[in-house]
Amino acid sequence: MVPRFDARAFDHVTPEMLKSYQDNGVLVLEHLIPEADCDALKARMGQLIDGFDFTTSASIFSTQEGSHDQRDAYFLESADKIRFFYEEEALDQTGALTCAPALAINKVGHALHDLDPEFDRVSRHERLAKVATGLGLKDPLILQSMYIFKQPHIGGEVRPHQDATYLWTEPQTVVGLWLAVEDATIENGCLWGVPGDWRGAVPHQRFERTETGQTRLIDLGGDAIDPAGKVPLEAKKGTVLAFSGLFPHLSGPNRSAQSRHAYTLHIIDGAAQYPNTNWIQRSPDFPFRGF
Ligand code: FE2
Repeated sequence: MVPRFDARAFDHVTPEMLKSYQDNGVLVLEHLIPEADCDALKARMGQLIDGFDFTTSASIFSTQEGSHDQRDAYFLESADKIRFFYEEEALDQTGALTCAPALAINKVGHALHDLDPEFDRVSRHERLAKVATGLGLKDPLILQSMYIFKQPHIGGEVRPHQDATYLWTEPQTVVGLWLAVEDATIENGCLWGVPGDWRGAVPHQRFERTETGQTRLIDLGGDAIDPAGKVPLEAKKGTVLAFSGLFPHLSGPNRSAQSRHAYTLHIIDGAAQYPNTNWIQRSPDFPFRGF
């Protein structure tokens, strides 16, 4: 079992917490973020969805009208924007929604933390900053943010992966901070992970931006992720799961009637090398910021 820490009175990452992170690849901090902040994020996301014109991007994601290049571009250009991505089962062949617009979105990303004042405020909560430094990041930078809906009935599964595949630094420094905006249970598609000391592991795949503005996933050799030892990481609202970029994780589909909203940040150490082949790139006038 992965230890769980009551973080209601959290002040810093204790030696026991750090050991748990190193032994398991994930640190479970219950009640780290006040429920009122979770509610504030959910309400703000509701406003963003209300203001989103669903007709503009649906065609890009329709298998009939949209090309792979268009979808790549929509994704790659989202690094410094707030963009909306659909659940696979929410669009039919023509790009028409099969459900209510607010229930069609899979996630919103990837610069909520820098562009929206409410997301900025919660993203830079001093407790999250203390988690980052307590886990060893000397100059923590927030690279990306995602609001993930895991919609009732159609929320898609996320296959086993390591986040370092998508955010590569040398040495590996990426840490994911996963906040349960709503209770996450096995029924509504909570995170699962394979606990272990993953510090010496190497990602077996790397996701890159190509010179021609596309993306590709490169196999680096080694064994594919074996999810056989996976354990559920159920999380009450306000819980933060902090996990290494090398921690193998996944989530199942949501076939329940309950949504499973989560907000994630990915941080790296600014002291590490950040290759220009990473998909997320910022212009000099909009640099990555820390807490
Ligand atoms: Fe992930």
